[in-house]
Amino acid sequence: QVFRLEDYRPSDYHIPLTDLTFRLSPDSTRVISELTIERRDGISGTPPLVLDGDGLVLKRVELDGKALAPSAYEATPESLVIANPPAGKRFRLLIETEIAPSQNQALMGLYRSNGVYCTQCEAEGFRRITYFLDRPDILSVYTVRIEAKRDEAPLLLANGNPGERGDLGDGRHFAVWHDPFPKPSYLFALVAGDLGLVSDSFVTASGREVALAIYVEHGKERLATYAMDSLKRSMRWDEEVFGREYDLDVFNIVAVSDFNMGAMENKGLNVFNDKYVLADEETATDADFANIEAIIAHEYFHNWTGNRITCRDWFQLCLKEGLTVFRDHEFSADQRSRAVKRIAEVRTLRAHQFPEDQGPLAHPVRPRRYREINNFYTATVYEKGSEVVRMIRTILGADMFRKGMDLYFERHDGDAATIEDFLQVFEDASGRDLSQFALWYHQAGTPNVTVAASHNAASNEFTLEIEQSVPPTPSESRKRLMHIPLAFGLVGQDGKDIAYAAVDGASVEDGVIHLRKRRHVVTFSGVAERPAISLNRGFSAPITLSIEQKPEDLMFLARHDGDAFSRWQAFNTLLTDALIAATRNVLGGKKPAFAKELVELAGIIAGDETLEHAFRALAISLPGEADIARDIGANIDPDAIHAAREALVGAIAETNQSHFKALYEKLGASGSFSPDATSAGRRALRNVLLDYLSILPHGEMLAADHFSAATNMTDRAAALMVLAHRHPKSAEAVNALAAFEEKYRSDALVMDKWFQIQAAMPGQDAVDLVRRLTAHPAFSMANPNRVRSLIGTFASANQTGFHRADGTGYKFFVETVLAVEKRNPQVAARLATALRSWRSLEPGRQAKAREALLAISAAENLSADLRDIVERTLA
Ligand code: ARG
Ligand code: ZN
Repeated sequence: QVFRLEDYRPSDYHIPLTDLTFRLSPDSTRVISELTIERRDGISGTPPLVLDGDGLVLKRVELDGKALAPSAYEATPESLVIANPPAGKRFRLLIETEIAPSQNQALMGLYRSNGVYCTQCEAEGFRRITYFLDRPDILSVYTVRIEAKRDEAPLLLANGNPGERGDLGDGRHFAVWHDPFPKPSYLFALVAGDLGLVSDSFVTASGREVALAIYVEHGKERLATYAMDSLKRSMRWDEEVFGREYDLDVFNIVAVSDFNMGAMENKGLNVFNDKYVLADEETATDADFANIEAIIAHEYFHNWTGNRITCRDWFQLCLKEGLTVFRDHEFSADQRSRAVKRIAEVRTLRAHQFPEDQGPLAHPVRPRRYREINNFYTATVYEKGSEVVRMIRTILGADMFRKGMDLYFERHDGDAATIEDFLQVFEDASGRDLSQFALWYHQAGTPNVTVAASHNAASNEFTLEIEQSVPPTPSESRKRLMHIPLAFGLVGQDGKDIAYAAVDGASVEDGVIHLRKRRHVVTFSGVAERPAISLNRGFSAPITLSIEQKPEDLMFLARHDGDAFSRWQAFNTLLTDALIAATRNVLGGKKPAFAKELVELAGIIAGDETLEHAFRALAISLPGEADIARDIGANIDPDAIHAAREALVGAIAETNQSHFKALYEKLGASGSFSPDATSAGRRALRNVLLDYLSILPHGEMLAADHFSAATNMTDRAAALMVLAHRHPKSAEAVNALAAFEEKYRSDALVMDKWFQIQAAMPGQDAVDLVRRLTAHPAFSMANPNRVRSLIGTFASANQTGFHRADGTGYKFFVETVLAVEKRNPQVAARLATALRSWRSLEPGRQAKAREALLAISAAENLSADLRDIVERTLA
């Protein structure tokens, strides 16, 4: 079945009130749902009431207090239809269903994780609990009563504020929760179990006291302190930056160990993958700490962007996700280093969203059609969606953007809104026309901007000839011209931006060129010296840029550009160009060679004390193999890329050997651990230096020392990775892997790192290793974190291992995806996207990848989730 945006129609019925009673039991939970249903104004007659279900067993149905005759309704696992609802405007419907949480392996609806009852309802999981109008524009006020065995589930939680609770005799007890804010069913949540508590409190700007709680497995309370701290900082930040306060008496977070995604913003009761809650220096890396901070913030920010204002339908998913990602990006930028955060965001966008946008799964930020909505929780909706919001702020300026956001909250609080509503508030607040800009939501594909620059010394004119194009994407062959805000600077020999006298050919405001036509010839007058052009500063638009720039100019910008992002970009471009050329050499049987200036510049940047450590670490980290593959674009041979990249690592390491060694030593002296950004930056730089130094003779000994001296997981995991990837056969690697396993075998989240490192081990041997590890006692096909760590890492972060020329990587992958799918279609579909760029491989691998996709599509009883991905990938 295909769902289309243009088919949207409001529901004939509303459900203003929803009263739910859960009698919990692992294999047969009873759900009694009492709905107050109202016919929508303006509907004539009594159209049939069609409620959604998914695998449900109906036990009882009553209308206005009386049992409904079997002839009056039709119940299947997928729907409950009442052909002739009462003629009155309002009626009450009681529905009792039976479900088996312990048998739910798809982890959608009500399921059990480590003995804890929990729910996941976004997007369409509520219909696995009870029959309902399971669509986001049905907003209802929920009252929830939970009954359970007291010893099995002393803790009973649902959305909203706590109400009555008490004993039921027989070892059972109950609790009632009431959420005064009308909400869609996808925000419903229930948790019941025996968990440890971390509590705190927060006083909002207007003086409301909120009780904060994070529930985790007993004994792990200490590991939730960073998450709690992040929550309080998020709450304060949203007040200060967006004027948004929290609105209930309690805010609860529960960490569970079986979860399909990162976390979920259920009103007042966020449910988290425990990976994004639990951390201390011994078990979590700096990247884990940063993720926890960002995801805690993201889910909290949804309270306004997602919950108070929700989506009219699932086509509008980016309304809440793109905006909320933008908000969490800004939060992290304010808490940490803005420049470093921006570089990391762009790297992520290019690594995940660009291949999506440039391959068979490309879709607009606001899609127009889908078969399975779960497959649209994508980098395009989330990450590109955030970039689109960022561009609105760039175009309007920060003050006008805030005015627009204020208007959005004022006008749409309590609504199920659309992207049109969102754009309208900015047009109304600013008086600007955003109709051309709106194409960023409607048109798929990464725009390309081509630029040629010239300087006329006689007329003191600097000219940019700029052209935009958007490549065709599936089902969109013709593209319209976009409004692209291109931030720029003309950098003079002193490293400062040159002031020009006038500009002609495009509208230019506050350092931003606004491209609106196919071609602009932009002339800056009064420019006496030839500037180095710095374009798309801060990554002001999510585009690819084609511009011929002299290596000298890029070297200059890499050292002197006033915009930190562009400075990073300039050096990254030099590295990428060198790696592409080196790959060509490898393929031609030649030894890769690198410019002395480039290799030396890496050393200069590494040691530049005027720069933050984290920036230096990012700057000298070479593009990954997948990044290089993406930039080459076609006829990819991962082995050649790997060889070229290792050659550049070696060249930089050899040239800068003594300098790197000294710097590495100097950075080593650290006091007690702190997860703050500055300390993390120092560790990051030191670990990048280790990566370089480890390629030199006796590198395995240095890495082994680093491993055994490590006092935190960041350093330990970095050393283990260097050993396992660069010296896999060495005794040092074997010993370190064994020691790590021995120490952490019972800590599932840390074992995930052990699986990841081995799954990413380059070369021919990875397939067999990963296959063997699927039998490891710490691995489980039923747990999404384990599957993503081992199988997901192998398929999407091991270019040489997964894309092994003989196709055995793909064969293993097909088996595994199909095995995962039997339990959990959503996780399997996500895994399968690893093959989306198969058409850019060299012909031999391409043919084998295609066979693998065909093998999946030929499997019997394929889920809608997996079928959708595989068919679109092959199309
Ligand atoms: N709304 C959640 C978040 O962004 C993610 C839910 C993902 N749901 C899904 N079916 N994939 O934080
Ligand atoms: Zn979200």
